[in-house]
Amino acid sequence: MAEGQIEAFLTEERSFAPPAHFVAHANAKPTIYDEADRDPVAWWGEQARRLTWDVEPTTTLEWTRPYAQWFSDGRLNASVNCVDRHVAAGNGERVAFHWVGDREEDYVDVTYRDLLDRVCRAANGLSSLGVKAGDRVAIYMPMIPEAIVSMLACARLGAIHSVIFGGFAAEALVDRILDSDCRYVITADGGYRRGEASALKVNVDAAMPKCPDVAAVLVVKRTGQAVEWTPHRDHWWHDVVDSQSSEHVAQSFEAEHPLYLMYTSGTTARPKGILHTTGGYLTQVATTHYYVFDVKAETDVCWTAADIGWVTGHSYIVYGPLCNGVTQVLYEGLPDSGGRDRWWRIIEKYKVSILYTAPTAIRTLMKWGDELTRLHDITSLRLLGSVGEPINPEAWMWYREHVGQNRCPVVDTWWQTETGAIMVTPLPGISVTKPGAAMRAFPGITVDVVDNDGVSVGNGEGGYLTLSAPWPAMTRGIWGDAERYVDTYWSRFDGSYFAGDGAKRDADGDLWLLGRVDDVMNISGHRLSTTEVEHALVGHEGVAEAAVVGASDDTTGQAIVAFVTLKFSVADSGDDHRSIIEDLRNHVARTISPIAKPRQIIITPDLPKTRSGKIMRRLLRDVAEHRALGDVTTLTDPAIVGVIDSLMSQHASDDE
Ligand code: PRX
Repeated sequence: MAEGQIEAFLTEERSFAPPAHFVAHANAKPTIYDEADRDPVAWWGEQARRLTWDVEPTTTLEWTRPYAQWFSDGRLNASVNCVDRHVAAGNGERVAFHWVGDREEDYVDVTYRDLLDRVCRAANGLSSLGVKAGDRVAIYMPMIPEAIVSMLACARLGAIHSVIFGGFAAEALVDRILDSDCRYVITADGGYRRGEASALKVNVDAAMPKCPDVAAVLVVKRTGQAVEWTPHRDHWWHDVVDSQSSEHVAQSFEAEHPLYLMYTSGTTARPKGILHTTGGYLTQVATTHYYVFDVKAETDVCWTAADIGWVTGHSYIVYGPLCNGVTQVLYEGLPDSGGRDRWWRIIEKYKVSILYTAPTAIRTLMKWGDELTRLHDITSLRLLGSVGEPINPEAWMWYREHVGQNRCPVVDTWWQTETGAIMVTPLPGISVTKPGAAMRAFPGITVDVVDNDGVSVGNGEGGYLTLSAPWPAMTRGIWGDAERYVDTYWSRFDGSYFAGDGAKRDADGDLWLLGRVDDVMNISGHRLSTTEVEHALVGHEGVAEAAVVGASDDTTGQAIVAFVTLKFSVADSGDDHRSIIEDLRNHVARTISPIAKPRQIIITPDLPKTRSGKIMRRLLRDVAEHRALGDVTTLTDPAIVGVIDSLMSQHASDDE
């Protein structure tokens, strides 16, 4: 969001006091910030009591920048914290998940007792295949209960899961499996999207020739579609898991035992394996889930409408909510599977009280019209959350008015795969909220906005978001690449973590997140790097060079615009550019994922380069966003920007 827009909204003085009915009963009391500020480390130590420890920690934080250890002499099991202890406390009959399939006829309620039974069988099944503590297990699945059961079964055994978003293509699977040397893969034959069966195992099959060390592939039968079968390597889930005992004694692990890896895009073509460990991570996801969503385990129904293939699903579908023992909706489909009112029907049927989703989804629902929200009784909602991208004030207001019926507080939560849990957010019941602002650091978290030299900016000024003290859920590093961890996050500003986001403090000192300041794009809340897409494009036989930028887009936040030069033979072949462009878009989808398909590809005779040969992406961004061009004098060929600009306008009129 541009700074001017923020001012425009602020001058309208739109801010909302905490709703009266929240104030008396909110989990967060007004004293919470002061209590945490007095001694943040001790405050987090208190929060760790939310967990069930086999050995209580006596230490809280050991900090040798940039490496933190939290609760290091404590021992616990993540799966026991998410499941067993709720059953032991007498809540086994509480629904853990109302699972809702893409197709209307698919749904099932899974209680905490059912979940325990399933997780134990799966843990026994994985052990029978040879999985043991410390092994890496790739999980590539649709949003079905077995995906969560698989994650918890790995955690139970101390194996490190690496969930790979089901939308990724075979090549992306190969990179992720090889980087962390996963020896096991759990997948499904396919899933459903808008009623149609889609294939997943076929991508695993395509990846396997390049992953010779994978010993076993465990396959859930979800759709019943025909699949290729490699004997000895492939195993049906129902053969391996269903016949196992539902008893499994969980071992306890050190608090710093690795829990999972989540690959995310950085500024290079290679995704980074972000490592999270157990005790600190669980403490912060459970604490933030409790306060930010104000959850009451006995009565709330939480729905985090996100995919478990991303960190939001890990922290706020799996670990946070399950630690807190709440009931959730787990939905497999797209927002319009079975009709554009599907979400509102799900909310009505299951009496969802807390909805958490991304601005892209909100903007899409907004486009489909507010009438749809009125067709169903959605008055069970009491709190709304947003995550993943900057939320524009219009979408925030629509969410508040039409989904929250002016009754529900909206919490805009800023965090990242690397932070593991929510870092900047209002707290319902005590915070004023402003449309488009994430407001302030969560208790016990220290956030700053600094200028180029690392000096804190004042109110009313913008700069870079930094985190100046360690926090429990912080990543413990990048798998196999300690140097990159230091370089990426800890070298830009002395002593602080550099998030890669621009931010601004408004006149009241409240925080507004302004988007990435590096080459990371945010497409519909999916994080992709410009280099990753460029790499895929130049991997096509016809492409000589490619430059990719993220241009602002009304629905998806940002969209990919690619500028491509072709090899002489192709450029001169007389082929229609349209078919080449379509071919390139499909090539990117096949190499990375359909989410990485460029919105526009401009074929140009050359790219704007400085005399040292560096591509000036800044100028391409100006072109892609139809802005006045910045300084072109340092280019080898200043005229090329004009050429590209006219190709872009030509392209825009082609599209109309
Ligand atoms: O740019 C920020 C944006 O998403 C990035 C993190 O992406 P990822 O690791 O995929 O995690 C997404 C889910 C936590 C951040 O660097 N971002 C996330 N939340 C917000 C946001 N930008 C603005 N406002 C937010 N609330």
